[in-house]
Amino acid sequence: MPHTSGEHSTRTVLVTGATGNVGPYAVRQLLEAGANVRALVLKDDPNLHRLPDGVELHYGDLADPDSVEAALPGVDGVFWMWPFFALSTATAPAVLERIAAHAGRVAVVSSVGVHLGIEPVDNNCHAYLEKLLEQTELEWTFLRTTGFMANALGFAPQIRTSGTVQFPYGDAVRTSVHESDLAAVGVRALTEDGHAGQKYLVTGPEALSQREQVQIIGDVLGRTLVWEDIHHDAARKAMVDTGWPPSYADGALDYFADLCVTPEPGSTVVADTTGRPARSFREWAVEHADAFR
Ligand SMILES: NC(=O)c1ccc[n+]([C@@H]2O[C@H](COP(=O)([O-])OP(=O)(O)OC[C@H]3O[C@@H](n4cnc5c(N)ncnc54)[C@H](OP(=O)(O)O)[C@@H]3O)[C@@H](O)[C@H]2O)c1
Repeated sequence: MPHTSGEHSTRTVLVTGATGNVGPYAVRQLLEAGANVRALVLKDDPNLHRLPDGVELHYGDLADPDSVEAALPGVDGVFWMWPFFALSTATAPAVLERIAAHAGRVAVVSSVGVHLGIEPVDNNCHAYLEKLLEQTELEWTFLRTTGFMANALGFAPQIRTSGTVQFPYGDAVRTSVHESDLAAVGVRALTEDGHAGQKYLVTGPEALSQREQVQIIGDVLGRTLVWEDIHHDAARKAMVDTGWPPSYADGALDYFADLCVTPEPGSTVVADTTGRPARSFREWAVEHADAFR
């Protein structure tokens, strides 16, 4: 049976998307916080090496709610991520029903797009997950994140080979967040009281244009990198060719165009909830420098 945790802190947490950009940080930080941690992973997941010792692996597929059920007995909280690129949200209601039958708390990775009211209207979006959660008795926390600093890894092949990044909207100003900081806010929401019902806008500490992010990567590498704006349509074709659903590519590129005019909003949620400053893009670039060499 679900329990609302009140003064009791969460002890057993299931992390979905555990081997992605955010999941390994969440798993590690939950272990450090003393929680029992379960990772929901696909069979034959090639990224299991990203997970630390001490986490329990549970094989399950969000496309198959019964397979998720097996990971849930004894779980207090769920760090919930939906892999939108790989999977529609058709099974999300059934997955959440099973979560709600066991857990008391959920921290869901959502998006700045919901904060800004610009998410697409169909159901394959973060706003839909939020709506489903609002219809439950769960203690939920929404992590409405800006773009991940890890998105800059998309520029790595161009940086490694030519040093010229060809992409549109170099002047788009973002408040990108370090994946570890996003995880940290979710971990607080699951292990401390006081975060239920919060719709957190989770951002990095600074506003930087895409061009400035690339300059910082160049500084860290000791190389001069060049940003070259290309046409929206050329980038859209390249994104769709590499697997982006067309509607997602359109949404992202239109958003970047808007960010050339109106910078992405920032918040102090990371510092306020974790008690430490949010990590800068330069810190992220130093940690990931080898990916660009
Ligand atoms: N990137 C951004 O800038 C951004 C901005 C706002 C919101 N978000 C949201 O952030 C969330 C987390 O993103 P992320 O970058 O950490 O994700 P990610 O790196 O793409 O990882 C997706 C994770 O889900 C797993 N997965 C894929 N299909 C699955 C399935 N059918 N059942 C169970 N697990 C499955 C993947 O496993 P494998 O390792 O086997 O592939 C991987 O662990 C997503 O909901 C995304 O929409 C991202």
